[in-house]
Amino acid sequence: MTTKSKMKGIILSGGTATRLFPLTATTSKQLLPVYDRQMIFYPLNTLIKAGIKDILIIVAPEHSGQYLNLLGSIFKNCGIHLYFEVQKLPRGLAEAFILGESFIGHDNVAMILGDNIFEDNLEDEIKNFSGGGTVFAKAVPDPERFGVVEINNDGKAVSIEEKPQNPKSNFAVTGAYIYDHRVVEIAKSLEPSERGEVEITDVNNRYLSMGELSVKKIDGAWLDAGTFDSLLEANQVVKEKGISRNFDPAVEKAIVDFNEELKMLAKKRLL
Ligand code: G1P
Repeated sequence: MTTKSKMKGIILSGGTATRLFPLTATTSKQLLPVYDRQMIFYPLNTLIKAGIKDILIIVAPEHSGQYLNLLGSIFKNCGIHLYFEVQKLPRGLAEAFILGESFIGHDNVAMILGDNIFEDNLEDEIKNFSGGGTVFAKAVPDPERFGVVEINNDGKAVSIEEKPQNPKSNFAVTGAYIYDHRVVEIAKSLEPSERGEVEITDVNNRYLSMGELSVKKIDGAWLDAGTFDSLLEANQVVKEKGISRNFDPAVEKAIVDFNEELKMLAKKRLL
């Protein structure tokens, strides 16, 4: 009898986010506020809602202390284990699987980019994952800004291109991915692209060429908060749709307890 592989989580929160200077001169993009909490809580919530208990957070060296202050102990009472890895230089999204090699081991892995916010619950795809790779596609008005997936009438992925000038569809590949453990070897075998990065699109194309890439369309809001305008939009959409009111109870309690402790310490300092 084979036992089902465990699902682990990765949040990629490295990078210098130059498009958000000067905001990101003092902190990490993924620690900037989106409505009433830091951006990183949204992808963390998506993974935890899907039942994932072990999550690796990949951060840039200059912000590692801030991540530890916020997240180092926050989930210690609810059976969720966070691990941290420092990415010294941003060398592409697929590098997450090279940095995460020993963390992933022989398990499956769901990765969400630290600046991606999903209204939809990805629980079914994460819980029912049975191997290969899965990407999530969202129809957008400006697909040339993203990885673009062409989908045939049977709902199968036909091609994936990174930021094409002439997109073959209006479906962006969002920043959530599920892979089996072979992703580590695939990432290690990739040549850097022209922009000097190991591209997640090349990982997806490898699974596509093996006939093992699934694509799932998402209906709810998807926000990639990497520019001033998309960050502003993320704040507005999160508030309007109540996305932060709909968190997993364990995550919500951890945030409330963290806030209460901070208030208590602030009071003590004033005494
Ligand atoms: C990255 C990926 C792209 C994907 C996007 C989602 O782009 O390379 O395929 O559509 O994330 O947020 P980047 O944000 O690095 O430009």
